[in-house]
Amino acid sequence: MKTANLRFATFVAAASAAISCFAMLDDEAALKAARETLAKMTLEEKALLTGGSGTMTLSAIPRVGITKEWTMSDNSSTVRPQMNRWDWDYTKPRSENTKLPSLSALASTWDVEMARLHGEVLGAEMRDRGVDELLGPGVNIARTPLNGRNWEYLGEDPCLAAKMCVPMIKGVQSYDVAATVKHFCLNDQEWNRNNVDTHCDLRTLHEIYLPAFRAAVQEAGVLCVMTSYNKIDGIWASENKYLQTGVLRDRWGFKGLIETDWGGQHSNSFSANNGGGIEMDRGDQIKFHYNPKAGKYPIVDAVKAGKISEATVDEMALHVLFVMAKTGFLTGAPRKAGERNTKKHQEIARLIGEESIVLAKNEKGVLPLDAKSLKKVLVIGKNAAEKQCHKGCSAEGNVPYEITFLDALKARLGKSVEIVLKPLPKEKVKKTDDSQLAVDLSGVERAGGHVEKDDGKGKAEGPGLDELKALALASDATIVFTGTELGYDGNMESEGRDRKDMLADPGEDASISAILSWGAKNTVVISRAGTPVGYTWTDSAPTMLMSSYLGMEEGNSIARVVFGDVNPSGKLCQTWPKRYEDTGVAQMGTYNEKEVVYNERFYVGYRWFDYKKIEPMFPFGHGLSYTTFDVSGVDVKSAGPNCWSVRAKVTNTGKVAGREVVQVYVAYPEAKVERCVKDLRGFAKTKLLKPGESEVVTVELSSSDFAYFDELTHQFTTDPGKYDILVGVSSRDIRGKGTAEVDASIENFLRLIKRL
Ligand code: BGC
Repeated sequence: MKTANLRFATFVAAASAAISCFAMLDDEAALKAARETLAKMTLEEKALLTGGSGTMTLSAIPRVGITKEWTMSDNSSTVRPQMNRWDWDYTKPRSENTKLPSLSALASTWDVEMARLHGEVLGAEMRDRGVDELLGPGVNIARTPLNGRNWEYLGEDPCLAAKMCVPMIKGVQSYDVAATVKHFCLNDQEWNRNNVDTHCDLRTLHEIYLPAFRAAVQEAGVLCVMTSYNKIDGIWASENKYLQTGVLRDRWGFKGLIETDWGGQHSNSFSANNGGGIEMDRGDQIKFHYNPKAGKYPIVDAVKAGKISEATVDEMALHVLFVMAKTGFLTGAPRKAGERNTKKHQEIARLIGEESIVLAKNEKGVLPLDAKSLKKVLVIGKNAAEKQCHKGCSAEGNVPYEITFLDALKARLGKSVEIVLKPLPKEKVKKTDDSQLAVDLSGVERAGGHVEKDDGKGKAEGPGLDELKALALASDATIVFTGTELGYDGNMESEGRDRKDMLADPGEDASISAILSWGAKNTVVISRAGTPVGYTWTDSAPTMLMSSYLGMEEGNSIARVVFGDVNPSGKLCQTWPKRYEDTGVAQMGTYNEKEVVYNERFYVGYRWFDYKKIEPMFPFGHGLSYTTFDVSGVDVKSAGPNCWSVRAKVTNTGKVAGREVVQVYVAYPEAKVERCVKDLRGFAKTKLLKPGESEVVTVELSSSDFAYFDELTHQFTTDPGKYDILVGVSSRDIRGKGTAEVDASIENFLRLIKRL
């Protein structure tokens, strides 16, 4: 534990030292440089900047000083290999990069320092590869457990997503490169994502689905925003004036570039006249503004035909030049040097993974396992040995190595311990209902991923339960490795398709229940999944660890928690329902592939479970430790005009060092309008506390933490009155309470005149 703490402290110190960036100009200087360049450009040259020059590039225009192509690359957890100009294939040789944990894992750390480190690794690797713009982070909200991309996002809560994306973006951009917050917005399912029409009331939109985007813009200064594929109230996101001009530009003051998701452009003048930005797609498909393959300029024709004003094209080009200037790309200012595939980056990948792992249950104290007492270990579940980093469509990577859990176990236990790997017995695997895939295959191909279709033959898998039982009873530990996989086979998680249900693979639940009934020594279940799975056996599992996809160091991160080198401190970033039918989306019946109405409104995730008083399998924010913590002395004090400071003392009351996450929720005893039972408004993670050690953590709240979005005035409003402040260690484990007396009339007035 000591080394972990030391290493952690070193990284955090390095992170704070790296906060300053070299070239990042202030907005005024960048705008000046952008305007000067724009003034030199012909209409055709400006048009060049309104669409890609290839799958992942914008044109060089040497005549005006843009000497290189602007280069983009996915994603939120690695710098994906570079692509060919006209197609989705990777250029050769395929570049290798560190693969960090997915964003759902990062969110489960509840640690803003981890988010900063995550961003810095990506920024440094981009600079080393010569990538100017990262196509991440994705901050869509986990509205339904079926969403194929939940693992790529920061969970179900807007406050958690907002607070985690800000340091991550700042970390990326501290390397004089741009980050892109995506997919703006309401792309909360993958089922028919290219055509689905979403309808969400304004209050829910502003309270649940927009806060992370807003924080990215206003707090992190994100330079790029990617619109989503879907329609919103019948209008493509890339043509939506309310969102692009009204919200992003006018309300939030966004100065950077807006770009479509790849293939998300549907028109020429309609998009441009509705605040649309640059068109991106597979290189040979880009056609509405500037057609690089044909060397044509349809946007110039539209200007000549009077359909688009030249001022509109100027503005689009100016936004691109502004981003280029901010990063030093345009001005030629020295940009911060990067590095790639270093030991340090690999250790950060491992560290973030370790910090994200959730100890869901440890009733009999089976974990951590004592490595010295093991002679024979049975591992059940082939996912313990299957690599994932190269999967996940646009979120995939190409890594120098990947440590699976089995690899890590072997390295940790050495040759003297016998490790037996067996697949989980399953029913015959049925052919996938791939109707969703059929609908959206075009989108998947456009995204450049592999489409691994089920061959439909099916096969009976795994040994018989009797054989397994004999092995388990003869082993010193039985580790069941279950969950999901990335990809397009069966019910895996990936872009372009949702999971067809919330269930585990057929037959797995029954096998796990059987295994749990054997009373084999040291039985541990590890669930590795990026979205909740409706396991049926958790009540009979005394010991359970949960993890999302952790990238190239996944095996090491999990093994270090299993053996107690690291004490788990992750907390769930999504509610785990017992069954799909319990979720708001399922109960309100609005999940389909055509017209989706967000009828559950702001009751998303734990808000729904609180509202309907439904017991989840595991609540949002849940996560245990190998030690115990006492949270006491909750105290809410005014800390200046419209500012409250919430303090709580956390004491490690157990026997090993550990970290706890204090979560601050606001409740509304005097609500004048409909409110949720409670809303997360802040959190703080303690340092590594030694046994007996205490730390007082502080979370600051402001009047906006009590506000709701008032559709009548179209503003956030804070009603005067008393608010309860609930301090807990999960959304269902509240340890203390305070009160804030709020009179925010001045803030309300200021919001009104500033249109915030
Ligand atoms: C995905 C985006 C990604 C883009 C470029 C799209 O299919 O939705 O997240 O950035 O492809 O690869």
